[in-house]
Amino acid sequence: MSTTAEIERIVRGLPKVSLHCHLIGSVQAATLVELAAKHGVVLDGGRTAENLFDHASYEDLDEFLRVLDVAGSVIRDVDDFHRVTYESLTAGGAAHNVLYREIFLSPPGHPGIGYRTIIDGVRAGMRDAETDTGIRSNLIVGLNRNDTPGAATELVETMIANPYDEVIGIGLDYSEMIGPPEKFWKAFRLAGEAGLQRTAHSESGPPHNIETILDLLGCSRVDHGYHVVDDPDITRRCVEERIPFTCTPVSSDIGRYSGSGDGSHLRIKQMVDAGLLVTIDSDDPPMFGTDPTNDYRALAHALGYGLDTLASFTDNAIEASWLDADGKRDLRQRADRMVADLAAPLMKTP
Ligand code: HPA
Ligand code: ZN
Repeated sequence: MSTTAEIERIVRGLPKVSLHCHLIGSVQAATLVELAAKHGVVLDGGRTAENLFDHASYEDLDEFLRVLDVAGSVIRDVDDFHRVTYESLTAGGAAHNVLYREIFLSPPGHPGIGYRTIIDGVRAGMRDAETDTGIRSNLIVGLNRNDTPGAATELVETMIANPYDEVIGIGLDYSEMIGPPEKFWKAFRLAGEAGLQRTAHSESGPPHNIETILDLLGCSRVDHGYHVVDDPDITRRCVEERIPFTCTPVSSDIGRYSGSGDGSHLRIKQMVDAGLLVTIDSDDPPMFGTDPTNDYRALAHALGYGLDTLASFTDNAIEASWLDADGKRDLRQRADRMVADLAAPLMKTP
């Protein structure tokens, strides 16, 4: 059993690959308060950086989504997108040894703001973050499943009409109660025909939704997917096909999706034990009071995972990423070197 100090050394030093982090959800409260003031927006009830995020209340997803909408609404111009992307990738990424991130963007979360404005600012932030810290990144455009299927298809059309090398795929998020995956088959088919990669959230939905996501929407991975373990046949299939599941321990624990909200992370343990390809990330880090290191810390303490298991999540994320073979090889070399350095002191102990 590792000591707390040893767990700290490992989770801080671990190289990380981030496949499930939403840009809007990764903005620090202090930045949002500044952006609100810049645009003359009075935050709900005069909230400040100290009480803008109320982590415990997000057991109710709608409550969380309401705060997320406020956050998205104050990120407006190219400079804003540049700033929040840069901060998310540096202090919220590279500082935690995140080597590579596929960032979820939510154009519908910035009402009235043009697609090109968003991407121009975000790309500038990605470029500067890479120059300053070496972190690499690409973009996933999230379709809002609470919008109409027509609005989702229109967003994919906009993506196709405005191609950028960094925009490599689409996702599907917001409330699953209102937006079952099958509603969006047209948008996903169009994206597939255009050569875009596809993923979709399935946090609270039944195991059957995972089959829909894979077979009807053509996704190559699943975001969260905790209920897969309720169905042995679907679990077996996903193990055999090495379907990646991008799990987010802390945010899903607060939401009672991956366990019972007691920090036991029961479903993530069941997924790992079943042999599924699990990756670890933070979803909406400051909004849920977490960060990329802390999600690994939570699993190390709750499930007793040591360096080998924690490093296997990074390996899984490299495999699950949408980088090409060269990109994956480079990333694996960097990650392997860092893991070897972390393991060296462990070898010396008697
Ligand atoms: N859940 C659902 N949709 C989202 C989330 C989330 O945590 N973050 C951004 N969109
Ligand atoms: Zn998410």
